[in-house]
Amino acid sequence: MATPTMDKVGTDPSASPASPYITVTFRIRRFNPEVSDEAQWQDFQIEIDPKERVLDALHKIKWDVDGTLTFRRSCAHGICGSDAMRINGKNRLACKTLIKDINPEKPITVEAIKGLTVLKDLVVDMDPFFQAYRDVMPFLITKGNEPTRERLQSAEDRERFDDTTKCILCAACTSSCPVFWNDGQYFGPAAIVNAHRFIFDSRDEGGEQRLEILNDRDGVWRCRTTFNCTDACPRGIEVTKAIQEVKRALITRRF
Ligand code: SF4
Ligand code: FES
Repeated sequence: MATPTMDKVGTDPSASPASPYITVTFRIRRFNPEVSDEAQWQDFQIEIDPKERVLDALHKIKWDVDGTLTFRRSCAHGICGSDAMRINGKNRLACKTLIKDINPEKPITVEAIKGLTVLKDLVVDMDPFFQAYRDVMPFLITKGNEPTRERLQSAEDRERFDDTTKCILCAACTSSCPVFWNDGQYFGPAAIVNAHRFIFDSRDEGGEQRLEILNDRDGVWRCRTTFNCTDACPRGIEVTKAIQEVKRALITRRF
């Protein structure tokens, strides 16, 4: 691993004895295939209010210090799922991680999520992740004629898959899974969560098809129940439980 380099950043003019600003070091794993085949850590020291988020710090670095720093983000409010990254060794959304909550007295490490090819800095190739998502057919499948009114569902039936509707496809779960790290062919937790969302929907009629897809050698049976996915999910989805429910449905064919 290369020795970290240091970029010093000027003190924010608003800093004063009463200022909430503190100096925080962000140690970011940089990779630019046009410059080097090797990634290396680079330190950035910035003045920032610890009540701000890691995403704010990344913006500050990009806008004020080094415009080449590359990362994804869109909504900045935990909805779009585009800024999952490893922060202090744990998968988190940068926009939902307050600096004060991750010990700003020590350098805060930021790197790309694991198991997917890094394209540049914190940006990974999400194509295999979204291909697995598409493979489980994440849409309502029905047979017969078009209904003349909306498809009704009891509150109890809706509750059955409520948890898995919360997924924002951030990939924090899949990229925290050791099975996925070892073999990117595994569908991964996020695809299974999204299959669960339709398998257990009383209005859907494609459950058998999805179960057969997940019965594949790269499907649910690869899960080793490590709970990394549940720990990583920023939406608090019980990912491992959902995977277990899909396994059970495969055995009992009841869903
Ligand atoms: S289940 Fe959670 S961690 Fe996995 S992709 Fe969906 S929101 Fe992200
Ligand atoms: S930027 Fe959209 S979830 Fe963080």
